[in-house]
Amino acid sequence: MARKKIALVGAGQIGGTLALLAGLKELGDIVLFDIPDFEGVAKGKALDIAEAAPVEGFDSALTGASDYADIAGADVVIVTAGVPRKPGMSRDDLVGINAKVIKSVGAGIKEHAPNAFVIVITNPLDAMVGLMQQVTGFDPAKVVGMAGVLDSARFRHFLADEFKVSVEDVTAFVLGGHGDTMVPSVRYSTVAGIPLPDLVKMGWTTQEKLDQIVQRTRDGGAEIVGLLKTGSAFYAPAASAIAMAESFLKDKKRVLPCAAKLTGQYGVDGLYIGVPVIIGAGGVEKIIEIELNAEEKANFEKSVAAVQQLVEVTAKVAG
Ligand code: APR
Repeated sequence: MARKKIALVGAGQIGGTLALLAGLKELGDIVLFDIPDFEGVAKGKALDIAEAAPVEGFDSALTGASDYADIAGADVVIVTAGVPRKPGMSRDDLVGINAKVIKSVGAGIKEHAPNAFVIVITNPLDAMVGLMQQVTGFDPAKVVGMAGVLDSARFRHFLADEFKVSVEDVTAFVLGGHGDTMVPSVRYSTVAGIPLPDLVKMGWTTQEKLDQIVQRTRDGGAEIVGLLKTGSAFYAPAASAIAMAESFLKDKKRVLPCAAKLTGQYGVDGLYIGVPVIIGAGGVEKIIEIELNAEEKANFEKSVAAVQQLVEVTAKVAG
């Protein structure tokens, strides 16, 4: 069986980590792509990781490129092209620069990798993935945004830490946009299947503690930006996108929270927003619509309104 091809557009902090993880997991051959000024960075990271392969024992061809012709035939394209935020900035502050970047990257992908499954990471996520789908004109099932896997991973980490249990036994559920209005669901998050409200009743934690964890999850990206000062998170975002790519490449049909284009589900039509989906060989094979209680519904609607507003700003910038 021929190896799969994974193109990483943007060879920065997340791009480099994606390349390493894709190599370690032997997902396929890897092309790290960046603008001509950063071709050396793309080639340097590709060579550095290729030189780690004999030690780690993986066979993946790694190359760096700044010509879109080199992503031709990619099965998966993961997009991190753009700028990350600095302390004091919200993800939304990035729209002016990143909308233009996504427009040009989308044109390159459309021309050279028309059959790819495209995973967008560039922020502000929900608006950028929507723009990518619009620019490429690809089937919405083949264009998806990475946010929920990361947000729920942060939630899981904080919960595992609170309960002193393995992260593997914590599942967490996050809906809505990738921003301050995201909706971590306490009701649908569990430890080994036990919902969090039951754990409060069992005396494992308090409602107050859970509320703090929910807020810390919402602010998870900003917490890292505040510590790093020079950019935003990259290890966990990369790991999250790799989980999505792997589910597609191996047809695992994992149920993952992703930004997907809704067509009436949750009362939303034509907008990308975070919801649970099944990812398999067909891309986003199913959008899962769960029943929300009144509070979750109100929070989700608030999040939808915030994303809608951002999409309007994006449309003005992108022209
Ligand atoms: N085409 C290709 N690559 C581009 C383009 C473009 N038009 N414009 C910028 N880039 C590249 C930059 O040269 C840089 O190498 O994108 C890379 C971004 O890397 P970093 O600045 O290290 O940013 P990173 O931390 O990887 O985050 C990238 O993901 O989480 C989001 O908010 C984050 O939008 C940001 C993106």
